Amino acid sequence: MDTNILSWGDGEAEKPVADATGLGEITQGAARVSVDDKAMINCRADVNQLLPLKYRWAWEKYLAGCNNHWMPTEVSMQADIAQWKSRDALTEEERHAVKRNLGFFATSESLVANNIVLAVYRHLTNPECRQYLLRQAFEEAVHTHTFQYIVESLGLDEGELFNMYREVPAITAKAAWALKYTQNLSDSAFATGTPENDRAFLRDLIAFYVVFEGMWFYTGFAQILSLGRRGKMVGIAEQYQYILRDESIHLNFGIDVINQIRAENPGLWTAEFAGEVREMLREACELEVAYGRDTMPRGFLGLNAALCEQYMHFITNRRCAQLGLAPLFPETENPFPWMSEVMDLKKEKNFFETRVIEYQNGGALSWD
Ligand SMILES: [Fe+2]
Ligand SMILES: [Fe+2]
Repeated sequence: MDTNILSWGDGEAEKPVADATGLGEITQGAARVSVDDKAMINCRADVNQLLPLKYRWAWEKYLAGCNNHWMPTEVSMQADIAQWKSRDALTEEERHAVKRNLGFFATSESLVANNIVLAVYRHLTNPECRQYLLRQAFEEAVHTHTFQYIVESLGLDEGELFNMYREVPAITAKAAWALKYTQNLSDSAFATGTPENDRAFLRDLIAFYVVFEGMWFYTGFAQILSLGRRGKMVGIAEQYQYILRDESIHLNFGIDVINQIRAENPGLWTAEFAGEVREMLREACELEVAYGRDTMPRGFLGLNAALCEQYMHFITNRRCAQLGLAPLFPETENPFPWMSEVMDLKKEKNFFETRVIEYQNGGALSWD
């Protein structure tokens, strides 16, 4: 029997069973795809046909990503180079925090990209979501390029920064926590289609989209943007604003994917699984608090480990709400209210007079 063919019952045209990759044999004369055939995971419809669209939210995020195209080399690093070479423009504490921050992001962008390409893409059986993943994968490459450009511009020790995730325990702990979810899915024998494996896929999406990109990156952005607000390392701060804009869409795409899979497969999100997800977010928050202490042992103007902890609690509660979970922490106040202003690029007229703004063609963004 041809394993690519599934009988849909008497009188119905035979429809191909989707292999998740889209690389299976072509079934000559197979029926056209209808919207109702499409699904996020374990889909029967051909993943090589973008149209008809089912998930307009995924297509709109793809368009928003394209509208926000930028390249790190368009941002001048002259002021940053002068400050980095100067004896007194930055305190030792600030230099330590900047290096730790760059070291965390330098490899995190690759971990996220590898997770998309090697773990998520294969199992997300919807072409409009895959279209977004392809755009996101390129954006992660642009982000990694940013750290190459910063290292080159400032003359930093590339080994010190890029090997930091294997040398600094607080960074190793975060990377290792997320990596275990990728490792599970990248096994060639892994396939969705059982509740156990579908939950494993959800765990990976939560670990990367909600935790890595939606929690850990946000404290990293707050650290650099806090310096940028005081006129320090403004080139890096500008690049971080562009990365933050991209990551905000990545996060929201991930939340939509998770909630759509959950809606289509109501049996997956049991009370037990919800409790497990909350525990994942709690662990991730603890790892970030430890990283904050390592990054800012003494703190500096406007920023210290305690404020970052409070911010992480605020962000964690927000992510819980986006997943329909009860908050984990009693605090509800955002210690960095300026972050929401920084995220609105259109308000920062003077800050953004580079060519990048010309890429904009009016796509409306919502931020989280
Ligand atoms: Fe990124
Ligand atoms: Fe991202």
